[in-house]
Amino acid sequence: MTESERREPEPSDDRRAAEGTDERRANGPVIADADLARRRFFRDFAGELIRTAATVAGAASAIQRSSARAAGVILNPAGAVESIAGERANPAAGTAAGFRTAFRMDGDRLVLIDQRRLPDQLVEYSCASAGEVAQAIQDMVIRGAPAMGQAAALGLALTAHAMRDNTPFIRRATLRGGATALVNARPTAANVRWAVDRLMARFDELGDPPDDGHAVADVLRQEADTIVFEAAADHERLAHFGLDLLPEMADRPLQVLTHCNTGPLACGQFGTALGIVQVALHVGRPIEVFVDETRPYLQGSRLTAWELAQAGVPYTVLADSAAGWLMARGDVDAVLVGADRIAANGDTANKIGTYPLAVLAARHGVPFYVCAPLSSVDLATPDGSAIQIEQRAGEEVTALRGIPIAPAGSRALNPAFDATPAELITAIVTEEGALRSPFEIGLRGAFDASRARKAHPPAYAGFVGDEATSHAGAV
Ligand code: MRU
Repeated sequence: MTESERREPEPSDDRRAAEGTDERRANGPVIADADLARRRFFRDFAGELIRTAATVAGAASAIQRSSARAAGVILNPAGAVESIAGERANPAAGTAAGFRTAFRMDGDRLVLIDQRRLPDQLVEYSCASAGEVAQAIQDMVIRGAPAMGQAAALGLALTAHAMRDNTPFIRRATLRGGATALVNARPTAANVRWAVDRLMARFDELGDPPDDGHAVADVLRQEADTIVFEAAADHERLAHFGLDLLPEMADRPLQVLTHCNTGPLACGQFGTALGIVQVALHVGRPIEVFVDETRPYLQGSRLTAWELAQAGVPYTVLADSAAGWLMARGDVDAVLVGADRIAANGDTANKIGTYPLAVLAARHGVPFYVCAPLSSVDLATPDGSAIQIEQRAGEEVTALRGIPIAPAGSRALNPAFDATPAELITAIVTEEGALRSPFEIGLRGAFDASRARKAHPPAYAGFVGDEATSHAGAV
């Protein structure tokens, strides 16, 4: 890693947003009126991410004001004022907006946006335990590796809360059962096991089994909150490192191609590949996104297009199979994708169809960037051949949103992910910098850098508890 790749992004000096009323309903899957929800989205987007995160951290008292400026400041302290003031530097974009978060806490419930229903309806889906979150993950109510990891952590914390007055042995058995259900819900994503292991390690530190159920609940919730806050900070850093890699075009917007969905719906916080796009927009770097529709589940056309529309980023949806044609025309300056699991050697599992994109990018000399937090990296997996690839139901291929598109009885293959060999990856963009081959050395160094950074006070605990206000700018 070069010095410039490792440099610290500019610190965000203002993370506060006002407390606001949250009119959303809490219990059960709720179908919101689409127009109302959309209006609410535009009204709330700017403060929502920070407000949600602060609520998650139990630091609502730290939140002092909400404005579009807050989102801009997070993404680009220097440029926030201009971009929000209306002198938008990206004339191609629509109304500057932001992304909304994939989940929020509401009392003893974790409320998810039901991603199965987007873009037609903004629907919320409520969970009260690790088991319910595991089911939601399996059913793709929430999907995307980083978001699943954060939701899993909060789900396990909810189970600890619900079990706080049970006997220690029953509590331990229930928590372990919930942890197993979460880890098995979708096996390819590294982030879920990573998050669950973090919480269970804290649990194990408290005793065998720990007696004080209230202490268990508090500690697990604190660890889950920390995971969420770390993600917000890490995505911001990652986005800045990613932006540094992208060329500035002399006479036209930068044109990037992306696959699947890597915005907040997939990542819980700013996002990875789409986080970079969002930062580009906010710093006035004209950018346009080609969005692979992402067969068979259509995360690109349903979710990425929806998020980019909300964010005011110009985009064009295309069939996955059109990517080669587009690259051959010279219309793609860079490919940005996420990751579900990155092996120690840099081989990367991501949404099915990522590997052929990487082959095409190599063929056409287009840089291919994997953008992922270190929570998606599993050094215990030596290479791509060791990554378990989730196989999903054939109906996702033979039917489109319930409508058959193949003769009845057709067999179908539906691997949810493929593994892209490291040699096809130009750089892996993480919160510790953009890493280049040989990836194993870079990844290990990035973990060291992350540990050192996070060990440094005030760290993330600053958002938790009564002292939150004084540390509100720390993350
Ligand atoms: O099956 P999904 O929708 O969970 O797959 C998601 C992806 O493949 C994403 O690209 C990946 O999780 C990275 S999200 C930053």
